[in-house]
Amino acid sequence: MEQYILELKKITKKYPGVTALDQVSLGLKKGEVHALMGENGAGKSTMIKVISGAITPDEGEIVVEGEAYAHMTPALSKKLGIEVIYQEFNLLPNLSVAENMFMGERVGGKILADFGQMERRAAEVFERMKIDINPKTLVRDLSVAYMQMVEIAKSIVKNVKILIMDEPTAPLTSDEVDILLELVEKLKQDGVTIVYVSHRMDEIYRVADRLSVFRDGKWISTNLVEEISRHDLVCEMVGREITETYPERRKCKGETILEVRNLTGKGAKNISFDLKKGEILGLAGLVGAGRTETARMIFGADPIESGSIFMKGKEITIKSPRDAVKNGICLVPEDRKQHGVILSLSIRDNITLPIVKAISKLGIVDRKREDGILEQQKDDLRIKTPSFSQKAGNLSGGNQQKVVLSKWLASDAQVLIFDEPTRGIDVGAKQEIYFLMNRLVEAGKAIIMISSEMEELIGMSDRIIVLYEGEQKGEIEKEQFSQELIMERASNIVR
Ligand SMILES: Nc1ncnc2c1ncn2[C@@H]1O[C@H](COP(=O)(O)OP(=O)(O)OP(=O)(O)O)[C@@H](O)[C@H]1O
Ligand SMILES: [Mg+2]
Repeated sequence: MEQYILELKKITKKYPGVTALDQVSLGLKKGEVHALMGENGAGKSTMIKVISGAITPDEGEIVVEGEAYAHMTPALSKKLGIEVIYQEFNLLPNLSVAENMFMGERVGGKILADFGQMERRAAEVFERMKIDINPKTLVRDLSVAYMQMVEIAKSIVKNVKILIMDEPTAPLTSDEVDILLELVEKLKQDGVTIVYVSHRMDEIYRVADRLSVFRDGKWISTNLVEEISRHDLVCEMVGREITETYPERRKCKGETILEVRNLTGKGAKNISFDLKKGEILGLAGLVGAGRTETARMIFGADPIESGSIFMKGKEITIKSPRDAVKNGICLVPEDRKQHGVILSLSIRDNITLPIVKAISKLGIVDRKREDGILEQQKDDLRIKTPSFSQKAGNLSGGNQQKVVLSKWLASDAQVLIFDEPTRGIDVGAKQEIYFLMNRLVEAGKAIIMISSEMEELIGMSDRIIVLYEGEQKGEIEKEQFSQELIMERASNIVR
Protein backbone atom coordinates (compact mmCIF):
# COMPACT_ATOMS: atom_id res chain seq x y z
CA MET A 1 0.00 0.00 0.00
CA GLU A 2 2.16 2.83 -1.30
CA GLN A 3 -0.33 5.65 -1.10
CA TYR A 4 2.02 8.26 0.28
CA ILE A 5 5.51 9.34 -0.69
CA LEU A 6 5.90 10.83 2.77
CA GLU A 7 3.86 10.30 5.87
CA LEU A 8 4.01 11.97 9.26
CA LYS A 9 2.64 9.89 12.10
CA LYS A 10 1.58 11.47 15.38
CA ILE A 11 4.29 14.09 15.42
CA THR A 12 4.59 16.21 18.54
CA LYS A 13 6.99 19.08 19.09
CA LYS A 14 6.96 21.12 22.28
CA TYR A 15 8.72 24.34 23.19
CA PRO A 16 8.59 25.88 26.67
CA GLY A 17 4.99 26.99 27.07
CA VAL A 18 3.94 26.07 23.52
CA THR A 19 3.01 22.84 21.82
CA ALA A 20 4.00 23.77 18.27
CA LEU A 21 2.79 20.42 16.89
CA ASP A 22 0.35 18.19 18.72
CA GLN A 23 0.02 14.58 17.48
CA VAL A 24 -0.04 15.64 13.86
CA SER A 25 -0.52 12.97 11.18
CA LEU A 26 -0.45 13.79 7.50
CA GLY A 27 0.34 12.10 4.20
CA LEU A 28 1.75 13.58 0.99
CA LYS A 29 0.83 11.94 -2.31
CA LYS A 30 3.37 11.71 -5.09
CA GLY A 31 3.07 14.56 -7.56
CA GLU A 32 0.53 16.61 -5.65
CA VAL A 33 0.70 20.23 -4.55
CA HIS A 34 -0.24 20.13 -0.90
CA ALA A 35 -0.91 23.46 0.82
CA LEU A 36 -0.41 23.92 4.55
CA MET A 37 -2.79 26.51 5.91
CA GLY A 38 -3.30 28.10 9.30
CA GLU A 39 -3.01 31.25 11.30
CA ASN A 40 0.30 32.72 12.36
CA GLY A 41 1.84 30.36 14.87
CA ALA A 42 -0.33 27.38 13.85
CA GLY A 43 2.74 25.18 13.33
CA LYS A 44 3.33 25.23 9.56
CA SER A 45 7.00 26.17 9.64
CA THR A 46 7.62 23.78 12.52
CA MET A 47 6.16 20.99 10.42
CA ILE A 48 8.47 21.87 7.55
CA LYS A 49 11.45 21.85 9.88
CA VAL A 50 10.48 18.36 11.06
CA ILE A 51 10.36 17.12 7.47
CA SER A 52 13.68 18.74 6.54
CA GLY A 53 15.43 17.53 9.69
CA ALA A 54 16.15 21.05 10.96
CA ILE A 55 14.48 20.06 14.24
CA THR A 56 13.83 16.75 15.99
CA PRO A 57 10.26 16.02 17.07
CA ASP A 58 9.58 14.85 20.62
CA GLU A 59 7.30 12.06 19.45
CA GLY A 60 6.10 10.38 16.31
CA GLU A 61 7.67 9.00 13.16
CA ILE A 62 8.30 9.97 9.58
CA VAL A 63 7.80 7.46 6.79
CA VAL A 64 9.50 8.25 3.49
CA GLU A 65 8.78 5.92 0.58
CA GLY A 66 7.84 3.12 2.95
CA GLU A 67 10.84 3.50 5.24
CA ALA A 68 10.16 4.67 8.83
CA TYR A 69 12.42 7.10 10.68
CA ALA A 70 12.17 8.53 14.24
CA HIS A 71 13.40 11.82 12.85
CA MET A 72 15.19 13.31 9.87
CA THR A 73 18.57 15.00 9.74
CA PRO A 74 19.39 17.67 7.16
CA ALA A 75 21.76 15.27 5.39
CA LEU A 76 19.28 12.40 5.39
CA SER A 77 16.39 14.45 4.07
CA LYS A 78 18.55 15.77 1.25
CA LYS A 79 19.62 12.23 0.43
CA LEU A 80 15.96 11.25 0.20
CA GLY A 81 15.30 14.07 -2.26
CA ILE A 82 13.67 16.58 0.10
CA GLU A 83 14.54 20.24 -0.53
CA VAL A 84 13.26 23.34 1.24
CA ILE A 85 13.10 26.85 -0.15
CA TYR A 86 13.12 29.29 2.73
CA GLN A 87 12.12 32.89 2.52
CA GLU A 88 15.68 34.05 3.03
CA PHE A 89 17.64 33.02 0.00
CA ASN A 90 20.86 31.05 0.29
CA LEU A 91 22.50 32.52 -2.79
CA LEU A 92 25.85 34.26 -3.13
CA PRO A 93 25.15 37.52 -4.98
CA ASN A 94 28.59 37.97 -6.47
CA LEU A 95 28.69 34.56 -8.12
CA SER A 96 27.00 33.56 -11.33
CA VAL A 97 23.73 31.69 -11.52
CA ALA A 98 25.52 28.52 -12.66
CA GLU A 99 28.08 28.70 -9.85
CA ASN A 100 25.31 29.11 -7.32
CA MET A 101 23.46 26.13 -8.70
CA PHE A 102 26.40 23.79 -8.35
CA MET A 103 27.64 25.17 -5.06
CA GLY A 104 29.27 22.47 -2.96
CA GLU A 105 29.41 20.04 -5.82
CA ARG A 106 32.49 19.24 -7.89
CA VAL A 107 31.85 19.76 -11.54
CA GLY A 108 34.76 18.99 -13.83
CA GLY A 109 38.29 17.88 -13.04
CA LYS A 110 40.05 17.32 -9.73
CA ILE A 111 41.64 20.75 -9.51
CA LEU A 112 39.84 23.14 -11.79
CA ALA A 113 36.09 23.57 -11.79
CA ASP A 114 34.61 23.20 -15.27
CA PHE A 115 32.56 26.38 -15.68
CA GLY A 116 31.55 25.48 -19.21
CA GLN A 117 30.00 22.23 -18.01
CA MET A 118 28.24 23.97 -15.12
CA GLU A 119 26.76 26.51 -17.48
CA ARG A 120 25.63 23.83 -19.92
CA ARG A 121 23.95 21.83 -17.18
CA ALA A 122 22.34 24.95 -15.75
CA ALA A 123 21.06 25.90 -19.19
CA GLU A 124 19.52 22.43 -19.54
CA VAL A 125 17.63 22.86 -16.27
CA PHE A 126 16.29 26.26 -17.32
CA GLU A 127 15.28 24.79 -20.65
CA ARG A 128 13.33 22.14 -18.78
CA MET A 129 11.80 24.78 -16.54
CA LYS A 130 11.06 26.87 -19.65
CA ILE A 131 12.61 29.90 -18.00
CA ASP A 132 14.79 32.44 -19.65
CA ILE A 133 17.83 32.95 -17.41
CA ASN A 134 21.40 33.21 -18.65
CA PRO A 135 23.53 30.96 -16.39
CA LYS A 136 26.40 33.46 -16.66
CA THR A 137 24.38 36.30 -15.05
CA LEU A 138 25.52 37.34 -11.60
CA VAL A 139 22.85 36.59 -9.00
CA ARG A 140 22.93 40.17 -7.70
CA ASP A 141 21.67 41.37 -11.10
CA LEU A 142 18.51 39.23 -10.92
CA SER A 143 15.12 40.35 -9.64
CA VAL A 144 13.78 38.67 -6.53
CA ALA A 145 11.52 36.42 -8.59
CA TYR A 146 14.43 35.14 -10.63
CA MET A 147 16.49 34.56 -7.52
CA GLN A 148 13.61 32.43 -6.36
CA MET A 149 13.77 30.52 -9.67
CA VAL A 150 17.48 29.92 -9.18
CA GLU A 151 16.75 28.52 -5.72
CA ILE A 152 14.27 26.14 -7.29
CA ALA A 153 16.70 25.28 -10.09
CA LYS A 154 19.26 24.42 -7.43
CA SER A 155 16.92 21.81 -6.01
CA ILE A 156 16.06 20.44 -9.45
CA VAL A 157 19.76 19.85 -10.11
CA LYS A 158 19.73 17.71 -6.99
CA ASN A 159 16.86 15.60 -8.33
CA VAL A 160 14.32 16.83 -5.86
CA LYS A 161 11.38 14.55 -5.09
CA ILE A 162 9.67 16.66 -2.45
CA LEU A 163 9.99 20.41 -2.74
CA ILE A 164 8.84 22.49 0.21
CA MET A 165 8.17 26.20 -0.18
CA ASP A 166 7.54 28.36 2.88
CA GLU A 167 5.76 31.52 1.74
CA PRO A 168 7.59 31.66 -1.59
CA THR A 169 5.57 34.52 -3.02
CA ALA A 170 5.80 36.93 -0.08
CA PRO A 171 8.45 39.12 -1.76
CA LEU A 172 7.03 38.84 -5.29
CA THR A 173 4.80 41.12 -7.36
CA SER A 174 1.74 39.74 -9.11
CA ASP A 175 3.50 39.14 -12.45
CA GLU A 176 6.29 37.35 -10.68
CA VAL A 177 3.81 35.26 -8.76
CA ASP A 178 2.38 34.08 -12.10
CA ILE A 179 5.83 32.96 -13.25
CA LEU A 180 6.38 31.06 -10.03
CA LEU A 181 2.99 29.34 -10.09
CA GLU A 182 3.54 28.22 -13.68
CA LEU A 183 6.80 26.69 -12.60
CA VAL A 184 5.12 24.88 -9.72
CA GLU A 185 2.66 23.47 -12.24
CA LYS A 186 5.49 22.19 -14.45
CA LEU A 187 7.33 20.57 -11.57
CA LYS A 188 4.13 18.82 -10.59
CA GLN A 189 3.78 17.43 -14.10
CA ASP A 190 7.31 16.07 -13.75
CA GLY A 191 6.12 14.14 -10.69
CA VAL A 192 7.63 16.36 -7.99
CA THR A 193 5.60 16.54 -4.77
CA ILE A 194 5.21 20.08 -3.55
CA VAL A 195 4.39 21.40 -0.11
CA TYR A 196 3.23 24.97 -0.35
CA VAL A 197 2.72 27.48 2.45
CA SER A 198 1.13 30.85 1.76
CA HIS A 199 -1.29 33.24 3.38
CA ARG A 200 -2.55 34.35 -0.03
CA MET A 201 -5.80 32.51 -0.62
CA ASP A 202 -6.10 33.11 -4.34
CA GLU A 203 -2.74 31.43 -4.89
CA ILE A 204 -3.75 28.40 -2.91
CA TYR A 205 -6.87 28.00 -5.00
CA ARG A 206 -4.88 28.33 -8.19
CA VAL A 207 -2.08 25.94 -7.43
CA ALA A 208 -2.98 23.41 -4.74
CA ASP A 209 -4.55 19.98 -5.19
CA ARG A 210 -5.19 19.33 -1.53
CA LEU A 211 -4.88 21.47 1.55
CA SER A 212 -4.43 20.76 5.21
CA VAL A 213 -5.50 23.17 7.91
CA PHE A 214 -3.71 23.54 11.24
CA ARG A 215 -4.81 25.40 14.29
CA ASP A 216 -2.82 25.79 17.51
CA GLY A 217 -0.46 23.01 16.52
CA LYS A 218 -3.26 20.57 15.79
CA TRP A 219 -4.25 19.05 12.48
CA ILE A 220 -7.83 20.11 11.73
CA SER A 221 -8.61 18.81 8.26
CA THR A 222 -7.33 17.76 4.85
CA ASN A 223 -9.49 18.41 1.80
CA LEU A 224 -9.35 18.50 -1.95
CA VAL A 225 -9.23 22.15 -2.90
CA GLU A 226 -12.40 21.90 -4.95
CA GLU A 227 -14.23 20.44 -1.97
CA ILE A 228 -13.78 23.38 0.38
CA SER A 229 -15.01 26.91 -0.20
CA ARG A 230 -12.86 29.88 0.59
CA HIS A 231 -15.25 30.95 3.29
CA ASP A 232 -15.24 27.55 5.01
CA LEU A 233 -11.47 27.39 4.75
CA VAL A 234 -11.04 30.74 6.49
CA CYS A 235 -13.43 29.67 9.24
CA GLU A 236 -11.54 26.41 9.76
CA MET A 237 -8.28 28.30 10.01
CA VAL A 238 -9.41 30.83 12.56
CA GLY A 239 -11.95 28.63 14.34
CA ARG A 240 -14.70 31.23 14.18
CA GLU A 241 -16.95 32.86 11.64
CA ILE A 242 -15.32 35.72 9.73
CA THR A 243 -15.74 37.33 6.33
CA GLU A 244 -12.94 38.64 4.19
CA THR A 245 -14.02 42.22 3.64
CA TYR A 246 -12.60 45.62 4.29
CA PRO A 247 -14.17 47.31 7.31
CA GLU A 248 -16.00 50.61 6.82
CA ARG A 249 -14.68 53.64 8.59
CA ARG A 250 -16.18 56.95 9.58
CA LYS A 251 -15.44 59.87 7.26
CA CYS A 252 -12.87 61.75 9.24
CA LYS A 253 -10.65 63.74 6.89
CA GLY A 254 -9.26 66.78 8.66
CA GLU A 255 -6.66 69.44 7.96
CA THR A 256 -3.44 68.76 6.10
CA ILE A 257 -0.80 67.36 8.41
CA LEU A 258 2.08 66.43 6.10
CA GLU A 259 3.24 68.11 2.91
CA VAL A 260 5.95 66.58 0.79
CA ARG A 261 7.42 68.78 -1.93
CA ASN A 262 9.72 67.59 -4.74
CA LEU A 263 11.36 65.01 -2.57
CA THR A 264 14.36 63.57 -4.39
CA GLY A 265 16.96 61.01 -3.41
CA LYS A 266 18.12 57.50 -4.18
CA GLY A 267 15.44 55.66 -6.16
CA ALA A 268 12.74 58.38 -6.22
CA LYS A 269 12.55 61.87 -7.61
CA ASN A 270 10.24 64.85 -7.43
CA ILE A 271 7.70 63.23 -5.16
CA SER A 272 5.04 65.69 -3.99
CA PHE A 273 1.83 65.06 -2.08
CA ASP A 274 -0.30 66.21 0.82
CA LEU A 275 -1.60 64.01 3.58
CA LYS A 276 -4.57 64.93 5.72
CA LYS A 277 -5.44 63.89 9.23
CA GLY A 278 -7.83 60.96 9.19
CA GLU A 279 -6.70 59.81 5.78
CA ILE A 280 -5.09 56.67 4.40
CA LEU A 281 -2.96 57.38 1.36
CA GLY A 282 -1.97 54.36 -0.70
CA LEU A 283 1.32 54.14 -2.57
CA ALA A 284 1.06 51.80 -5.52
CA GLY A 285 3.70 50.62 -7.96
CA LEU A 286 5.69 47.62 -9.02
CA VAL A 287 8.71 46.38 -7.09
CA GLY A 288 11.48 48.91 -7.67
CA ALA A 289 9.07 51.77 -8.40
CA GLY A 290 10.45 53.80 -5.50
CA ARG A 291 7.73 53.31 -2.89
CA THR A 292 9.98 52.00 -0.14
CA GLU A 293 12.64 54.58 -1.06
CA THR A 294 10.12 57.41 -0.70
CA ALA A 295 9.03 56.08 2.67
CA ARG A 296 12.60 55.71 3.88
CA MET A 297 13.44 59.30 2.92
CA ILE A 298 10.46 60.70 4.80
CA PHE A 299 11.51 58.64 7.80
CA GLY A 300 15.12 59.79 7.57
CA ALA A 301 16.44 56.30 6.95
CA ASP A 302 17.86 57.34 3.56
CA PRO A 303 19.32 60.76 2.76
CA ILE A 304 17.17 63.41 1.08
CA GLU A 305 19.03 65.05 -1.80
CA SER A 306 16.55 67.85 -2.39
CA GLY A 307 12.98 68.83 -1.67
CA SER A 308 11.18 69.68 1.52
CA ILE A 309 8.82 68.27 4.11
CA PHE A 310 6.29 70.27 6.14
CA MET A 311 4.55 69.03 9.26
CA LYS A 312 1.45 71.03 10.24
CA GLY A 313 2.56 73.84 7.95
CA LYS A 314 6.06 74.12 9.40
CA GLU A 315 9.09 73.00 7.45
CA ILE A 316 11.03 70.28 9.25
CA THR A 317 14.52 68.90 8.77
CA ILE A 318 14.81 65.14 8.71
CA LYS A 319 18.29 63.74 8.71
CA SER A 320 17.72 60.56 10.71
CA PRO A 321 14.89 58.35 11.99
CA ARG A 322 15.35 60.11 15.32
CA ASP A 323 14.38 63.42 13.68
CA ALA A 324 11.35 61.77 12.12
CA VAL A 325 10.15 60.22 15.38
CA LYS A 326 10.67 63.53 17.17
CA ASN A 327 8.41 65.15 14.59
CA GLY A 328 5.75 62.49 14.97
CA ILE A 329 6.53 60.36 11.90
CA CYS A 330 7.14 56.64 12.11
CA LEU A 331 7.79 53.83 9.66
CA VAL A 332 6.88 50.17 9.92
CA PRO A 333 9.45 48.81 7.49
CA GLU A 334 8.99 46.19 4.83
CA ASP A 335 12.05 44.19 5.73
CA ARG A 336 11.21 43.39 9.29
CA LYS A 337 14.00 40.90 9.92
CA GLN A 338 16.59 43.55 9.16
CA HIS A 339 14.98 46.76 10.32
CA GLY A 340 11.99 45.92 12.42
CA VAL A 341 12.38 43.38 15.19
CA ILE A 342 15.43 42.74 17.30
CA LEU A 343 15.30 38.96 17.34
CA SER A 344 17.54 38.56 20.38
CA LEU A 345 15.43 40.85 22.56
CA SER A 346 12.23 39.90 24.35
CA ILE A 347 8.82 40.76 22.95
CA ARG A 348 8.40 43.18 25.87
CA ASP A 349 11.55 45.11 25.03
CA ASN A 350 10.80 45.18 21.34
CA ILE A 351 7.33 46.64 21.79
CA THR A 352 8.11 49.19 24.48
CA LEU A 353 11.45 50.32 23.05
CA PRO A 354 10.12 53.50 21.39
CA ILE A 355 8.02 54.49 24.41
CA VAL A 356 10.31 53.63 27.33
CA LYS A 357 10.81 57.29 28.07
CA ALA A 358 7.13 58.09 27.99
CA ILE A 359 6.26 55.35 30.46
CA SER A 360 9.14 55.99 32.86
CA LYS A 361 9.27 58.23 35.88
CA LEU A 362 12.70 59.39 37.08
CA GLY A 363 14.27 56.73 34.92
CA ILE A 364 12.19 53.88 36.30
CA VAL A 365 9.81 52.09 33.95
CA ASP A 366 6.22 52.01 35.16
CA ARG A 367 5.72 48.23 34.86
CA LYS A 368 2.01 48.37 35.43
CA ARG A 369 1.50 50.78 32.56
CA GLU A 370 3.87 48.77 30.42
CA ASP A 371 1.96 45.56 31.11
CA GLY A 372 -1.30 47.31 30.29
CA ILE A 373 0.02 48.40 26.91
CA LEU A 374 1.45 44.97 26.18
CA GLU A 375 -1.78 43.17 27.06
CA GLN A 376 -3.73 45.58 24.89
CA GLN A 377 -1.45 45.01 21.90
CA LYS A 378 -1.46 41.28 22.41
CA ASP A 379 -5.27 41.23 22.35
CA ASP A 380 -5.63 43.69 19.49
CA LEU A 381 -3.27 41.86 17.18
CA ARG A 382 -3.68 38.34 18.59
CA ILE A 383 0.01 37.89 19.20
CA LYS A 384 0.46 34.24 19.99
CA THR A 385 3.03 33.75 22.72
CA PRO A 386 3.14 32.17 26.18
CA SER A 387 4.93 35.19 27.65
CA PHE A 388 6.21 38.69 26.87
CA SER A 389 9.68 37.68 28.00
CA GLN A 390 9.87 35.19 25.10
CA LYS A 391 12.60 36.16 22.62
CA ALA A 392 11.12 37.72 19.51
CA GLY A 393 13.26 35.33 17.46
CA ASN A 394 11.24 32.36 18.78
CA LEU A 395 7.95 33.69 17.46
CA SER A 396 6.48 32.44 14.20
CA GLY A 397 7.09 34.64 11.14
CA GLY A 398 3.73 36.36 11.22
CA ASN A 399 3.83 36.97 14.94
CA GLN A 400 7.18 38.71 14.59
CA GLN A 401 5.54 41.10 12.19
CA LYS A 402 2.78 41.79 14.65
CA VAL A 403 5.41 42.72 17.23
CA VAL A 404 6.85 45.33 14.88
CA LEU A 405 3.41 46.74 14.26
CA SER A 406 2.70 46.91 18.00
CA LYS A 407 5.94 48.68 18.60
CA TRP A 408 4.77 51.64 16.56
CA LEU A 409 1.11 51.49 17.44
CA ALA A 410 2.09 52.03 21.05
CA SER A 411 3.96 55.22 20.15
CA ASP A 412 2.22 58.55 19.73
CA ALA A 413 3.26 59.26 16.12
CA GLN A 414 0.88 61.38 14.05
CA VAL A 415 1.93 60.11 10.64
CA LEU A 416 2.39 56.38 10.30
CA ILE A 417 3.99 54.86 7.23
CA PHE A 418 3.24 51.18 6.77
CA ASP A 419 5.36 49.36 4.22
CA GLU A 420 3.60 46.09 3.36
CA PRO A 421 1.91 45.87 6.78
CA THR A 422 0.15 42.56 6.21
CA ARG A 423 2.86 40.60 4.44
CA GLY A 424 2.98 37.11 5.91
CA ILE A 425 0.05 37.84 8.19
CA ASP A 426 -2.88 35.43 8.33
CA VAL A 427 -6.44 36.32 7.29
CA GLY A 428 -7.81 36.78 10.77
CA ALA A 429 -5.00 39.06 11.90
CA LYS A 430 -5.14 40.99 8.62
CA GLN A 431 -8.65 42.02 9.54
CA GLU A 432 -7.48 43.09 12.97
CA ILE A 433 -4.83 45.24 11.33
CA TYR A 434 -7.40 46.87 9.05
CA PHE A 435 -9.59 47.64 12.05
CA LEU A 436 -6.60 49.06 13.86
CA MET A 437 -5.67 51.26 10.92
CA ASN A 438 -9.22 52.55 10.85
CA ARG A 439 -9.16 53.26 14.55
CA LEU A 440 -5.91 55.17 14.14
CA VAL A 441 -7.21 57.45 11.41
CA GLU A 442 -10.52 57.89 13.19
CA ALA A 443 -8.47 59.16 16.11
CA GLY A 444 -6.98 61.81 13.82
CA LYS A 445 -3.76 60.15 12.73
CA ALA A 446 -2.71 59.87 9.11
CA ILE A 447 -1.41 56.78 7.34
CA ILE A 448 0.67 56.18 4.26
CA MET A 449 0.33 52.57 3.16
CA ILE A 450 2.51 50.73 0.69
CA SER A 451 1.13 47.42 -0.46
CA SER A 452 1.66 45.05 -3.34
CA GLU A 453 -1.73 43.52 -2.75
CA MET A 454 -3.92 45.54 -5.02
CA GLU A 455 -7.16 44.48 -3.34
CA GLU A 456 -5.91 45.67 0.01
CA LEU A 457 -4.73 48.97 -1.39
CA ILE A 458 -8.08 49.61 -3.01
CA GLY A 459 -10.00 48.36 0.02
CA MET A 460 -8.21 50.56 2.54
CA SER A 461 -7.01 53.77 0.84
CA ASP A 462 -8.82 57.08 0.45
CA ARG A 463 -6.47 58.11 -2.33
CA ILE A 464 -3.74 56.32 -4.23
CA ILE A 465 -0.53 57.70 -5.68
CA VAL A 466 1.13 55.54 -8.31
CA LEU A 467 4.88 55.46 -8.77
CA TYR A 468 6.76 54.21 -11.79
CA GLU A 469 10.55 54.02 -11.93
CA GLY A 470 10.93 56.52 -9.11
CA GLU A 471 8.47 59.04 -10.55
CA GLN A 472 4.93 59.94 -9.67
CA LYS A 473 2.41 58.85 -12.30
CA GLY A 474 -0.75 60.40 -11.09
CA GLU A 475 -3.05 60.42 -8.17
CA ILE A 476 -6.27 58.43 -8.16
CA GLU A 477 -9.32 59.36 -6.10
CA LYS A 478 -11.42 56.71 -4.39
CA GLU A 479 -14.32 57.03 -6.84
CA GLN A 480 -12.01 56.09 -9.73
CA PHE A 481 -10.23 53.18 -8.06
CA SER A 482 -9.85 50.12 -10.27
CA GLN A 483 -7.17 47.47 -10.59
CA GLU A 484 -6.88 48.17 -14.32
CA LEU A 485 -6.27 51.88 -13.88
CA ILE A 486 -3.68 51.37 -11.16
CA MET A 487 -1.88 48.69 -13.19
CA GLU A 488 -1.84 50.94 -16.27
CA ARG A 489 -0.26 53.76 -14.33
CA ALA A 490 2.13 51.43 -12.53
CA SER A 491 3.37 50.05 -15.84
CA ASN A 492 3.31 53.53 -17.39
CA ILE A 493 0.78 52.66 -20.06
CA VAL A 494 -0.59 55.96 -21.36
CA ARG A 495 -4.00 56.03 -22.98
N1 LIG B 1 12.52 27.95 18.71
C1 LIG B 1 11.34 28.17 19.26
N2 LIG B 1 11.22 28.43 20.58
C2 LIG B 1 10.02 28.64 21.16
N3 LIG B 1 8.86 28.61 20.49
C3 LIG B 1 8.90 28.37 19.17
C4 LIG B 1 10.14 28.13 18.48
N4 LIG B 1 9.86 27.92 17.18
C5 LIG B 1 8.52 28.02 17.05
N5 LIG B 1 7.94 28.28 18.25
C6 LIG B 1 6.49 28.45 18.50
O1 LIG B 1 5.80 27.38 17.88
C7 LIG B 1 4.54 27.83 17.35
C8 LIG B 1 4.42 27.46 15.89
O2 LIG B 1 5.30 28.26 15.13
P1 LIG B 1 5.47 28.14 13.55
O3 LIG B 1 6.67 28.95 13.20
O4 LIG B 1 5.48 26.71 13.16
O5 LIG B 1 4.14 28.85 13.02
P2 LIG B 1 3.65 29.10 11.52
O6 LIG B 1 2.40 28.31 11.33
O7 LIG B 1 4.76 28.86 10.58
O8 LIG B 1 3.23 30.65 11.56
P3 LIG B 1 3.47 31.87 10.48
O9 LIG B 1 2.30 31.86 9.56
O10 LIG B 1 3.41 33.08 11.37
O11 LIG B 1 4.79 31.69 9.83
C9 LIG B 1 4.49 29.33 17.62
O12 LIG B 1 3.73 29.56 18.77
C10 LIG B 1 5.94 29.70 17.86
O13 LIG B 1 6.05 30.81 18.70
MG1 LIG C 1 5.96 30.18 9.33
